[in-house]
Amino acid sequence: KIIILDFGSQYTQLIARSIRELNIYCEILPCLKPVTFTPDVKGVILSGSPFSVNDAAAPKPDIAELAAKVPVLGVCYGAQLIAQQNGGHVAQSNSREYGRAHLHFATKETLFNTVAEDTQVWMSHSDSVKELPESFTLLATTSSIPVAAYKANNYPHPVYGIQFHPEVTHSTEGRQIIKNFVVDVCGCEQSFTPAAFVEESIAAIKAKVGAERVVMALSGGVDSTVAATLIHKAIGENLYCIFVDNGLLRKNEFEQVMEGYKHLGLNVKGVDAKKRFYDELDGVSDPERKRKIIGRLFIDIFQEEAQLLTGVKFLGQGTIYPDVIESVSVNGPSVTIKSHHNVGGLPDVMQMDLIEPLRFLFKDEVRRAGRELQLDDIFLKRHPFPGPGLAIRILGAITPEKVAMLQDADAIYTQLLRDTGEYDRVWQAGTILLPVQSVGVMGDERTYEFTVALRAVTSVDGMTADWAHLPYEFLAKVSNDIINNVRGINRVVYDISSKPPATIEWE
Ligand code: XMP
Repeated sequence: KIIILDFGSQYTQLIARSIRELNIYCEILPCLKPVTFTPDVKGVILSGSPFSVNDAAAPKPDIAELAAKVPVLGVCYGAQLIAQQNGGHVAQSNSREYGRAHLHFATKETLFNTVAEDTQVWMSHSDSVKELPESFTLLATTSSIPVAAYKANNYPHPVYGIQFHPEVTHSTEGRQIIKNFVVDVCGCEQSFTPAAFVEESIAAIKAKVGAERVVMALSGGVDSTVAATLIHKAIGENLYCIFVDNGLLRKNEFEQVMEGYKHLGLNVKGVDAKKRFYDELDGVSDPERKRKIIGRLFIDIFQEEAQLLTGVKFLGQGTIYPDVIESVSVNGPSVTIKSHHNVGGLPDVMQMDLIEPLRFLFKDEVRRAGRELQLDDIFLKRHPFPGPGLAIRILGAITPEKVAMLQDADAIYTQLLRDTGEYDRVWQAGTILLPVQSVGVMGDERTYEFTVALRAVTSVDGMTADWAHLPYEFLAKVSNDIINNVRGINRVVYDISSKPPATIEWE
């Protein structure tokens, strides 16, 4: 595997994903965390950083300790750090360099095998290496900086520095450069395939759980479904799943998803808790209070159900890698740990050991594993859906009538997205019921009814998003179908806000 030391760059996860795409396993660690050099560690990559190496507070692990064990590649800040630790001169450029640049090779080396002269790379830096240490070999320059890539020759293992970001797609041959490093320089085998992952994790779950029982909450989403399927393959009937109907799901979703689970052979208990959720949410309009009530009630119900089972030792969860990566804070070298559990903090209240088979996978890898497990598209291609469900898409207080109205509008929208193929082109879509009534006219009647907003976004990970440019004809048809078929709605609007500054959900 490859270890990526994170210095706080916004691109660190992209480095990891581009290595994973080569079917090579890698892990991200905070930059100051000591690396444990088990025999499977074949190389280290140092990420970029919002720091300057000349900042007093800049994090500076000792490169010699790393390069004593394995090859090292420094990207941007990483490259400046290696140069500085060997007496090189790093300073602010006259002009900050952002965007496209083209490499001119000074010495052709393994790192740039098959990479073309003049290849386009992506720069994003204000500092750069002005003078290389004497023993270093200059590999490449660009028209604006003297050192775009170098090799250090004073360590037991090969050490490279590159000023540009090979991990972003604008670096046309960036993936090839990463491959040259991890495969040709480090000698990694490209064996981390979905099939290998599935086989290994089933074996690992078997070894850990043995003949004990596991309980797990399902949500209908891809993560919990893939995790449950893996656990089920490992321990069969000793996995007990619980799927709570909180009354805030999409129209008919509870029944459809239960049916899907039965197909997969999962042992799932459906719990109808609609009334409890509606009762507790009665009159509540503050979004954070809604979230808290729903989260707590979910835990209560899950615990009640789990207690009905005897002798359960383990709790299964669909936690994925972006939820557990320890990331470096941009405000200082202190290390903050992001940790959110996708089913609302269950581990703290349940005295059980965790089984999290997807803990080291990115979302796209979860889908690939799901495909390997032959899961249906209704699970694999499903849009993300928030835990609190339609509660945070009904602005203001929630009533069962409003839920039904929104479910009907949402069902029309979702079906049209599917019928036109737009569903797979957008990352997430949904309808929002606004708390305003406005005047309309239907037939000869004046109406005074609610407005539904349509939301559809394109995104990679939900952190940033753009509104999807759905065709006008499509929007016209949705609007018409909703207003003609859903009682209580006389107006449809389309949300054209990106994130940031808006968010995907309205609450
Ligand atoms: P925002 O609205 O923050 O949403 O742009 C980003 C992504 O997170 C989902 N989301 C949630 N998911 N519990 C969840 O499980 C929540 O409370 C929650 N709030 C937002 C949202 O649907 C989008 O995919």
